Amino acid sequence: MQELGLFYMIQKLKHPVIYIYRTIRIFFDQFFSRGLMTEIINAIPKSIIQNNRKYLASIKNWVPIGLIESSVFRYGVNPHVEPLLNRPIDIAPTNADLLAFFATQCGCQGRYLEIGVSVGKTFWQIMNSAVQFECWAFDIEEISPALKQELSLISRVEWQTPSSSIKKTPSSFSIFLFKKTGQRVYYICADVFDPYAWTFLKDLSFNIILSDALHSATALDFEWGMLMKANALSRDFFLMIWDDLDGEMKDWFLRNKFTMAAQCKAPLNAVGEVFMNGWLGSGEFPHRYGYMIKHPKCFFK
Ligand SMILES: C[S@@+](CC[C@H](N)C(=O)[O-])C[C@H]1O[C@@H](n2cnc3c(N)ncnc32)[C@H](O)[C@@H]1O
Repeated sequence: MQELGLFYMIQKLKHPVIYIYRTIRIFFDQFFSRGLMTEIINAIPKSIIQNNRKYLASIKNWVPIGLIESSVFRYGVNPHVEPLLNRPIDIAPTNADLLAFFATQCGCQGRYLEIGVSVGKTFWQIMNSAVQFECWAFDIEEISPALKQELSLISRVEWQTPSSSIKKTPSSFSIFLFKKTGQRVYYICADVFDPYAWTFLKDLSFNIILSDALHSATALDFEWGMLMKANALSRDFFLMIWDDLDGEMKDWFLRNKFTMAAQCKAPLNAVGEVFMNGWLGSGEFPHRYGYMIKHPKCFFK
């Protein structure tokens, strides 16, 4: 019992320590501009950040009553962060700002894939800020009501979910129309461990990928294997980031990053880790991201 009390005390103390350490790291990296990714983050224009905040604010409620209760995985929303989801976030750059910046800098059409979309906060920002990008989502949950209200359904196909999955309803692939831009939006509702779900991504040549679904090394390993098998990464240019790369996920990334870069013919110096604010901005501690980038020259035209 005493040990349990000590455990909770350490957990409570850990968060402020992580917050302070990572915030100092961001300031330090910014000041001395350490590394390619820090340089890119430093170059994100204010206009991109402001627009993303505007898009976020346009949706007043990300978590309607009953959504979490009827979900498979709580949409990845832990009880302690739920009250933060509707709060405005400050102008410190987030992962969504980085992805939007990459999309606009590339100055051409492309494809975005978010693995683990939750209620859609990051996905929504990219749908709006990267209008020349085709947006694809993958999550074990059905599309969130916040996103759904902005889309009209064009088609939906279903298949049986593997019995080993925590998902007990049929899996599906839906195509929607984003009324505002006229773009199509693609939604795969399935378990990342379901190989059939990945066949929809075959040869699609994604240029931006956010990996943010099941936070385990086994899931990341499976996901990477599926992306490679589907030949889903663009051979020309791409940015892939992995969110919340802590614990065993960090070890997995460090063990595999050079092999993964070689598989994609990405330069070895273009794969690494960086701290940056995540979907809740400064409302929680900065996240540890893994990144891999190919053809970074497009950032410095
Ligand atoms: C942290 S949330 C994603 C946040 C989102 N990327 C954002 O930035 O707004 C993680 C998501 O992964 C999904 N997820 C968890 N396990 C999964 C699995 N086995 N297969 C597919 N999605 C899963 C959860 O449903 C949740 O929506």
